[in-house]
Amino acid sequence: MGGVDVVYNPYDRAVNDDPYPVYARMRTEAPLYHNADLGFWALSRHADVSAALTDSALLSSDHGPLLDPGASGPHARTFLSFVAMDPPEHTRMRAAISRAFTPRRVAALEPMIRQIARDHIEPAVERGTFDFARDIAAKVPLDVISELMGVPPAERAGVRRRSDALLRYDPAGQMSDEGVKGILSLGDYYRSIVVERRAAPRDDLVSALVADGELTEDDLVAFLFLLIGAGAETTTHLLCGAWYWAWRNPVQRAAAFGGAIGAWVEESLRYDTPAAGVARRLTRDTEWYGTTVPKDARVWILIASANRDETVFPDPDVYDLGRDTGKAISFGAGRHYCLGGPLARLEGRVVLEELTACVAPDYDIDRSLIRRTVHGNVRGMVSLPTTVKP
Ligand code: HEM
Repeated sequence: MGGVDVVYNPYDRAVNDDPYPVYARMRTEAPLYHNADLGFWALSRHADVSAALTDSALLSSDHGPLLDPGASGPHARTFLSFVAMDPPEHTRMRAAISRAFTPRRVAALEPMIRQIARDHIEPAVERGTFDFARDIAAKVPLDVISELMGVPPAERAGVRRRSDALLRYDPAGQMSDEGVKGILSLGDYYRSIVVERRAAPRDDLVSALVADGELTEDDLVAFLFLLIGAGAETTTHLLCGAWYWAWRNPVQRAAAFGGAIGAWVEESLRYDTPAAGVARRLTRDTEWYGTTVPKDARVWILIASANRDETVFPDPDVYDLGRDTGKAISFGAGRHYCLGGPLARLEGRVVLEELTACVAPDYDIDRSLIRRTVHGNVRGMVSLPTTVKP
């Protein structure tokens, strides 16, 4: 196994702030890394990560993709829906959701996304100093998902408030009673949407899923929860990463403000991958790098490390909008490949287009006040204090 001196604890704040040096050491010194205290094995090379994601018979999702032991296990499907399932159930649910979550439905969202982006960008830019993470990057994706579900605009702020606890959940700490209450009330709220759409269908995703008839009410509520974690928080971190790394790299920022928005989104996904890793359960004893990993072991597949693999991306630690990002695995691979990739990319493009249209490129960030999540799975910023000039 090697790499006896490599220590990787994804919950350590310093590691979480910048995990890339330890990922690089794992790729070279411990491509199969074992953390016995936290009970996981990690794969970090691009080739191993790609192979692991596509071999779902060897690496099961039935305990969910979360690294946190409290959130994984056979119960994971109750709040993580089909991302915590294997075939044939996964195939059945994914097919039903894909029938409703069509490219046409996603493309049709663009004007609405632009409006939501403006609604949050304009007041922030008027103030001049604001928190990019809280005031823009966290709000736009949640409101887009609310719109997708058919939540009326007047109720969006309530959904944001209640989902706060879910998104600020810190596995290293305890969730407050208030947080638990918020999540339960969100579950009740989602159930009421499903019941309402069953009685009076509209032109929204939930109505389409109800009409399809394949999913039970519990299936639908679990799916709506999954959308918040999988679709909102990840997109928040994509936006923060793009905003922050462009600020740190003025030449790249000039290219971004010069119109290279698509490349800005793609390189940000690669460089500071929001879905840093996914966990799996090993279905049989398996040998990697001369070590046999036992059946049922928890395997942590480090997507963010694969995206910095020097054998695939030249100068991987350089943020470069001109590079080829075709081999980045930011949305996963195989059966569980992200269903929301086109929506995330669309949101990224629209928000960055709107920002570059109304803000001068010489914005400023107070680095001393940046705060990051410590989830393990999803990495990104929850506070990004910014000052802009119109
Ligand atoms: C699955 C990343 C945005 C919905 C995944 C997976 C990754 C990922 C890596 C695979 C999980 C696994 O293999 O266990 C991302 C990133 C996003 C993003 C980086 C934003 C930058 C979205 C959005 C939505 C979404 C906007 C929907 C609104 C889903 C769903 C799955 C999924 C439903 C489960 C697919 C399955 O299990 O078959 N995402 N995602 N994601 N994502 Fe995303």
